Amino acid sequence: MITLNIKNMGRFDNKVALITGSSQGIGAACAVRLASEGANIVLNGRHNDERVEAITKQITDMGREAKFVQADISDTNNVIQLVKDAIAAFGQLDILVNNAGVENNKNFWEVTQEDYDFVMNTNVKGLFFGTQTFVNYVKDAGRSGVVVNMSSVHEEIIFPHFAAYCASKGAVKMLMRNLATELAPLNIRINNVCPGAIATPINKKLMETPNLLNNVLKNIPMEKLGQPEDVAAVVAFLASDDAKYVTGSSYFVDGGLTYHYEEQ
Ligand code: BGC
Repeated sequence: MITLNIKNMGRFDNKVALITGSSQGIGAACAVRLASEGANIVLNGRHNDERVEAITKQITDMGREAKFVQADISDTNNVIQLVKDAIAAFGQLDILVNNAGVENNKNFWEVTQEDYDFVMNTNVKGLFFGTQTFVNYVKDAGRSGVVVNMSSVHEEIIFPHFAAYCASKGAVKMLMRNLATELAPLNIRINNVCPGAIATPINKKLMETPNLLNNVLKNIPMEKLGQPEDVAAVVAFLASDDAKYVTGSSYFVDGGLTYHYEEQ
């Protein structure tokens, strides 16, 4: 006999989620989506501004609580403190969405050490030590936990002129696979979500430049950009108990971009 769970609302009742980089784009959509299903949210960004205020209001209007912790994910000490503050904010932390990420569009031969460090420190090092802080908390508290990393289609496919970004997402792929095995005995699941071209601030230039946009759309069988909410829906699935047997996987949310091929 199969038991159907068709009740989505409330999947995160009594849960707390920290979403890094949640003042805009995919992170903001994840925050609102998880709150809509019952979670209290720790928001994070480099600046506490009117965007944070708007998302906080949206969450409190749904009857959930949101607290903001300012931190720069490219600074390891900052990120460790962020996770500690997030735990303290509600006295528990169940879900970590490692969403914050940056990219840098330059020819490989022009990339500076500063460019490289900014991308790798945010996308890899910050994620690494933020996750480690969360894991130590879950382990010491004898709780369970879920980690969802915002990776990219570029953990798998190339992205010319974004060498550091590709290197960072390839690292996040292998880190996630490695941790899935290492953390399973601690009751911690970890998976990657891999967005393709999504209508977010990171793609502002792309969206404002018609010939760039058309080139991208030619690579997408669905012939459109994705929305932040499309990504948040998959994050919510992976963070929920619906995915209780899912760990060590990458989920592509890309309108078919990654594995498209056509001869005529
Ligand atoms: C990047 C975007 C890019 C998309 C598809 C994402 O990971 O952040 O800039 O448009 O991949 O290539």
